[in-house]
Amino acid sequence: MLVLGIETSCDDTAVALVENGQKILAGGRASQEKIHAQYGGIVPEVACRVHYETLMPLVQKVCTDSGKQLSDIDAVAVTNQPGLVGSLYVGLSSAKALAWALGKPLVTVDHIEAHIYAAHLHDPELDYPHVSVVVSGGHTDIFLSTGPTEHKLITRTLDDAAGECFDKVAALLGIGYPGGPAVQMTSLGGDREAIKFPRGEAGPDGLQLSFSGLKTAVLNDLRKRGFVIEAQRNAGRLITARAPETPVPKSETRTLSVKLPLADIAASFQEAAVDILVRATLAATRKVRCRAVVLCGGVAANKRLREVMAAACKAQKNTGFHAAPLNLCTDNAEMIAGLGFHKLVIGQIASLDADVLPNKDEKRQKAETA
Ligand code: KG4
Ligand code: ZN
Repeated sequence: MLVLGIETSCDDTAVALVENGQKILAGGRASQEKIHAQYGGIVPEVACRVHYETLMPLVQKVCTDSGKQLSDIDAVAVTNQPGLVGSLYVGLSSAKALAWALGKPLVTVDHIEAHIYAAHLHDPELDYPHVSVVVSGGHTDIFLSTGPTEHKLITRTLDDAAGECFDKVAALLGIGYPGGPAVQMTSLGGDREAIKFPRGEAGPDGLQLSFSGLKTAVLNDLRKRGFVIEAQRNAGRLITARAPETPVPKSETRTLSVKLPLADIAASFQEAAVDILVRATLAATRKVRCRAVVLCGGVAANKRLREVMAAACKAQKNTGFHAAPLNLCTDNAEMIAGLGFHKLVIGQIASLDADVLPNKDEKRQKAETA
């Protein structure tokens, strides 16, 4: 069965054709990174307009690349939750129109469940149950997964998502957007032990996850070094550090004083973020007595996180470690089409009046804790 996947929940427009939930025939992604970089973060209205322009040409391209016609597809799968409301609507409306015009079923997919499925797409042997660590720009959730759509929440961040923290720290350091890859790159050659950033409270069972304290610690470190933290209101959420002697920049793009040991700060910050995630993951595996971990979502592309998580899992009773492949960590439509296939085979077809659920907590707050 051939499923067309559509993903527009945030700032990436993505389309893919996947056969039987496993074989990727073609996939395309149009990133809006450069557009949003000038604002230091995603501007929702801009994101949805760009999706609107980009989506259908991408559908055409993916068909051409795979040598398939739209009439060959068996279903249309689309992300309808969670995400930015306008962005989700562009994908869902287009998917409805395609499904209706082609006379094929529509399947709506939860973006977080799809991130977890990305690891299965890569590794058909990967079995359930496993502890799923979803670390992205909007989410830091740890689940016990017992099937493609069966996930019980074990713990989640109390405040910022891990990716959001990388993005905010990168903005502070003035090293670019999105922050994760920028921090990873900047940390190369840096000393991970240079600054002992706090890892936050683990809580009695080790499951407590929080990133806002870490972000504040970086901010305080910069202040201690004499840097002025300026909020650039015209750029929305962008906050950047500035050496007192540097003239206030006219535009948002600026170069920091060379006096800041950027590599050490980035490496020390990254190490702290990695430690927080690894500690909570191991605690989760102990809590639910599960000896397999799946790491996924944009932050799962972080090399140091993959390295430390793999070693920590091995050291804890040889717990199995699986990570989504690098190209399927950040948002993509292969994971949507892949999971869409599984929903299709169990008959979870959406009706043409399906709506979007932008807020992850609308549904997930109801999740029982494992
Ligand atoms: O999964 P994703 O593409 O979108 C959401 O669903 O949020 O994740 C995007 C997030 C961004 O915050 C980005 O900075 C982060 O993933 N990210 C990384 C890396 N690559 C992307 N964080 C740390 N290290 C990376 N290499
Ligand atoms: Zn995502």
